[in-house]
Order: sequence, then C-alpha cells, then structure tokens
Amino acid sequence: MLRSLFTVACSLTALGTAAFVPPSRSSFIFPTRQQLQQQQATGRVMALYASSTPSSSTLDRRALLFKSAGSLLGLVGLSLARPAEAVEEVPLVRDKQGGLLEPYTDIAKGLKLSRPSGWNQFEGTPETYVVKWSDIINRDEVVILNSTPVKASTTAVDALGDVQDVGKKLAAGRGAELVEAKARLTEGVLFYEFEFKGEAVSEVACLCVAKGRLWNLSATSATKRWPKRRDLLKGVIGSFLPKL
Ligand SMILES: *[C@@H]1O[C@H](CO)[C@@H](O)[C@H](O)[C@H]1NC(C)=O
Repeated sequence: MLRSLFTVACSLTALGTAAFVPPSRSSFIFPTRQQLQQQQATGRVMALYASSTPSSSTLDRRALLFKSAGSLLGLVGLSLARPAEAVEEVPLVRDKQGGLLEPYTDIAKGLKLSRPSGWNQFEGTPETYVVKWSDIINRDEVVILNSTPVKASTTAVDALGDVQDVGKKLAAGRGAELVEAKARLTEGVLFYEFEFKGEAVSEVACLCVAKGRLWNLSATSATKRWPKRRDLLKGVIGSFLPKL
C-alpha cells in the first residue's frame, strides 16, 4: 500500500468529485517509474492530461474517478507538490536470533518488543522513559524506549516531516553521520527508522505515533563494537509495536 496515495485517497474522498482538478503540466515533469506505469495504465487519464483546460474535457469525471482508482490516485499524486513516495510494508521482526532476544510485553501500556536476553532492566518514570535495558558488561549498549504525548490531530509520524529531513536533523543533533533513514509500514503503523554512526557511539532508532503519543525506541553501542551488535539491535528496533 502506498501510504501517500492512501492519504490522497482520503482527501479526495473528502473533496468529492466536483472539486477534482487535473494537475498542471509542470507538476509531472519528473514522474517516478511507478507513476509512469500508472499513467500508462489508462489512456483516458492521458487524454485528460492532453486537454488544455479542465472544462474542455468531455470525460465523464465520475466514470474516470471510479474506473481505475490506482491510475487516478497516481494522477492526483502528481498534482501535489511532493512526489508520491512508496512506503514499504515490512513485517514485524519476530526472529529471536537463537535466543539472543526474548519477548517483552507491557500489557498496561499495550506494547511489545524483543529485548536483549540477560540485559539489566530499568523501569522509568513517565517523565524519563518507559523501559530501558543495558548490557551488564558493556554499559554503553543500551536499548531505551520513551514516549511523549502529541496533539490529538497528530496521528502518524510523518507529521514530523519527511523521513530524510528528520534523519538529517537527528544526526546533526548527535554530531553523527546518518547511515540510513527510511519509512516503513508495520502492522498498519508508520515507522521512521534510522541508523546513525558517531565517532564513539552508533545507534539504530525508530519513531512512530500511536495512542496519542510519539514513541521513540533507540538502541546504541560503541561504534567499535557496532559490527558485532548491529544485527541484534536492529532486531530490537524491528520488533517494536505500540499495540498488542
Ligand atoms: C529518542 O530517545 C533517545 C534516547 O533517550 C534520545 O537520545 C533521542 O534524542 C530521542 N529522539 C527523539 C526524536 O525524541
């Protein structure tokens, strides 16, 4: 499912068919391959592109709207300033890595994730963190989950902005290099996932919005041990779900 297209579908429904306006030519100078495929999927939409003014089109707009939702959404997506971006659906990580990870569930808060086996557990206060684990020997190996309330109107993490922009800001704040920033959809929840590489400390993290809160899960280790720890910590990040 393309999340942005889904959003478009919702706004389109809200607008109703009467408000539908074809995009200006300038707005689809650089369509993605997927958008091109969507455009090619219907000659009628291409015919609409070709018409110089919306009113000169003789197409039955209602028929157009319902004929090919995918093509239409591609078209409307093009009319927006930002290009339609595909959000990959990624299954929840359940791999226990041969026992290095074990399941953790907080029934009261309605969340679950895998925690590194044998690490110390610390319970936070609402002002600090939800839960935190750290390796007994390598104390800089830490998994920490915290959450902060958000406005009721904020229902998904993309309210923070584009995932790359958010990643760059967070990296700059840490004085670290942004190795990766990607959006993913896991069990219907939009996550922003990041990897940062600092001189001393490296980190994988994810952010998502659920139940009126911004959830922030971060897993760190010394950069010199990162090659050994990265897979384990990525397993933790990929296993988090703020619902049961
Ligand atoms: C997420 O939590 C970590 C660890 O507490 C913190 O360093 C980081 O700044 C937080 N990120 C955001 C976006 O709140």
